[in-house]
Amino acid sequence: MNILDIIAKKEQGLELNKAEMEYVVMGYVNAEIPDYQMSAFLMAIKILGMSDKEIIDLTDIMLHSGEVLELGFDSVDKHSTGGVGDKTTLVLAPLVASLGVKVAKMSGRGLGHTGGTIDKLEAIEGFKTSMSLDELKTQVEDINVAIVGQMGNLCPADKKIYALRDVTGTVASIPLIASSIMSKKLASGSSKIVIDLKVGAGALMKTLDEAKELARVMVKIGHLNGRKTICVLTNMEQPLGYAVGNSLEVLESLETLKGHGPSDLNELVINLGSLMLALDKDLAVEKAIEYVQNALENGTGYEKMIELVKHQGGDITKIPVSTNILEVKALTSGFVKHIDALKIGELARRLGAGRMTKNDQIDPEVGIVLHKKIGDVVKQGDSLASVYYNKKQISELDVIDCFCFSEQPVVKPKLIYEIIK
Ligand code: URA
Repeated sequence: MNILDIIAKKEQGLELNKAEMEYVVMGYVNAEIPDYQMSAFLMAIKILGMSDKEIIDLTDIMLHSGEVLELGFDSVDKHSTGGVGDKTTLVLAPLVASLGVKVAKMSGRGLGHTGGTIDKLEAIEGFKTSMSLDELKTQVEDINVAIVGQMGNLCPADKKIYALRDVTGTVASIPLIASSIMSKKLASGSSKIVIDLKVGAGALMKTLDEAKELARVMVKIGHLNGRKTICVLTNMEQPLGYAVGNSLEVLESLETLKGHGPSDLNELVINLGSLMLALDKDLAVEKAIEYVQNALENGTGYEKMIELVKHQGGDITKIPVSTNILEVKALTSGFVKHIDALKIGELARRLGAGRMTKNDQIDPEVGIVLHKKIGDVVKQGDSLASVYYNKKQISELDVIDCFCFSEQPVVKPKLIYEIIK
């Protein structure tokens, strides 16, 4: 076998067998195949796609490239394909845990606009995001929930291939995304999986058709591996909630857990939370919605968050936010037609809320809080957003440029497009 023949076979549109893919993937992990040949292989996949069988085999190869965790209890994992202002895990994990669902959540740091879930949690003073597998299991047995950084040597093939995809224009490929996400979900040991698949300008999947295809494949992989899997296709045409930036997002999550969340975030956590609960407890979704709504209204989700923060060494009263605030005022009146989520994310990163490179330090205190969302009425001089800054600054115009106005009323966008099981 050799890599050139395998690339040529793919280029001719022929189906690769598992042995050929294993040769390439493990050859790359073991540094026998160089970056430039792997890049050509990945680009061939991106352009020509893969059959379901190839995607399933590729997932299995990546899954078994490292450790596969055994948690020893039933648990539900929730995954998001990522979006601006996406603090859903911070609300959902304690919320469903307060209803008896076990959540052993392994999350990442962000290389994107804002930090990942782990960076957000570390905005809480003292919060520890690393523990041993035994400690994780004990904490979940005790309080139903733990949120930690990646542990063990899970899917080293994905780690190495993802880093290459990031710099070779090969991230946006359905077979590569499906195998990357599902290999990690399967390796981290949860028995049920709910995926929040973001769709829109601010997401990896730009159209509903692409997102449906990705969802179909991921659900198929989950089921073939004996995991109940559900994909929810959700709107990412504007940031989720109002806050973008690490401490700011934690504070918005706490408000949501107290029942005072922004309507889109609230709707999302009720939908995802009820699916997690229904999946875990074999309940009708309507019943599960009732339980989740109650847990938001009566504060049991919030109490579970306090318990989680305490268990992981954090002080919930210490979530620092910068006191330097720039108010961004509207220059015109109208209805908000569009908010460029990616640009808002990019501005937050420029403030220091996210990383450009792996080793950059995040500033948890900075970010942007929007005051208007799509469909809202704006009068000239109204505050569009507050910018929380420290050392790095952005201008009012930078933020104003993210908004697009219409003279006609604008309908608020639908949040949940479709559920695929
Ligand atoms: N998230 C992942 O984990 N992998 C991808 O390929 C894309 C998003």
